[in-house]
Amino acid sequence: MTTAADEVVIHRGLNGVFFDRTKTSFIDGKEGKLLYRGYNIHDLAERSTFEETAYLLLYGELPTSEELQRFDRELKSARAIPGEVVDIIRAVKDAHPMDVLRTAASALAAFDPEVSDNSTEATQRKGIRLSSQLATVVMTHHALREGKDPIVPSSTLSHAANFLYMLTGEAPSAETARLMDQDFILHAEHGPNASAFTARVIAGTQANLHAAITGAIGALSGPSHGGAAENVMQMAMEIGDPANAAAYVKSLRDQGKPIMGFGHRVYKVEDPRAIHLREGVRKLSQERGEPKWYAILEAVIEAMHPYARLGVHVNVDFFAGVIYYLNGFPPDLFVPIFAVGRVPGWTVQVVEQLENNILIRPLTQYTGPMDLEYLPLDER
Ligand SMILES: CC(C)(COP(=O)(O)OP(=O)(O)OC[C@H]1O[C@@H](n2cnc3c(N)ncnc32)[C@H](O)[C@@H]1OP(=O)(O)O)[C@@H](O)C(=O)NCCC(=O)NCCS
Repeated sequence: MTTAADEVVIHRGLNGVFFDRTKTSFIDGKEGKLLYRGYNIHDLAERSTFEETAYLLLYGELPTSEELQRFDRELKSARAIPGEVVDIIRAVKDAHPMDVLRTAASALAAFDPEVSDNSTEATQRKGIRLSSQLATVVMTHHALREGKDPIVPSSTLSHAANFLYMLTGEAPSAETARLMDQDFILHAEHGPNASAFTARVIAGTQANLHAAITGAIGALSGPSHGGAAENVMQMAMEIGDPANAAAYVKSLRDQGKPIMGFGHRVYKVEDPRAIHLREGVRKLSQERGEPKWYAILEAVIEAMHPYARLGVHVNVDFFAGVIYYLNGFPPDLFVPIFAVGRVPGWTVQVVEQLENNILIRPLTQYTGPMDLEYLPLDER
């Protein structure tokens, strides 16, 4: 069947298309409002923890203290990864950390006792395990590629503090752990962006959570999705001094190039997630004796002021990169950190998809030639 061109409305990139309903997160790009399960991101960033927010996303309600304790125990007890997966990581250790993370997420399927159980309860449990395991994968890989023994995850520290601990072997200060915790909260879920949509497409075929998250990691690895934090750090290094920021911004704009960490497909005002990391960068740069990074970022914001009327404001990635850098993470771990924080969001999107499943299968309008005559090889 063919369809005349004027009968088809094409939504390239599915821009502006609603494909389902959700109770997970609400985003208003004009107001700069983000809710997880009805709770404002500002309250969660200021008052919650990653553990509590992950519970909220997975189960739809804030936990009681008993529920939170049980959830925390489950997360902590899932931090170890099988020796076979460590061997796989070792075998591919020279690849980009996102490729290693995707490979390890896929391999973990072979060791999860509930891998093919797509019930809501089993998918939630697998989401908890993957939240912990993928954090360990990232830091195990980093240690192995540096020729070091991986640090055994702590059985007592919080999710965020343990992640920092696995980098250095030292428990971080309460303030440093809290900033990492906030970063994980702010990255935990963000509607059907490319990676979450990928996870839903995969779950829509009734494939399992490990398959969905493996695909989501692949989608997140692209620079148009996860890579901006890394690019912002690169930009800050190139600028080098706050006094150079205005000229740097002008030169990029004269070439028609975007400024990294600014602009968003959905937010046309300041990304509500960015606000919380701004103060964190200020304090952390002071604490680490490197105030110039905060000063450079502020100078870039000042230089970008004229673009605010176009709806171009800072996004969450603008401040995240400097936080990771000041904590000692190399730039190629910035996207994997984003992935680690996003596991609860991907999981709940998969749960939603499976609970009211439909195969996701859009159409493309064919614009190629029709009914060509097939010529045998020796006549072409
Ligand atoms: C995220 C992004 C791809 C969104 O793109 P988009 O939805 O096409 O952006 P908009 O349609 O709102 O852009 C409106 C105008 O602002 C400009 N603009 C958008 N982002 C800009 C940026 N980062 N720097 C300078 N100008 C920008 C656009 O060029 C456009 O101008 P024009 O109308 O003269 O062409 C884009 O803003 C970008 O590349 N940002 C930098 C990378 C980044 O930080 N990504 C992380 C997102 S969380």
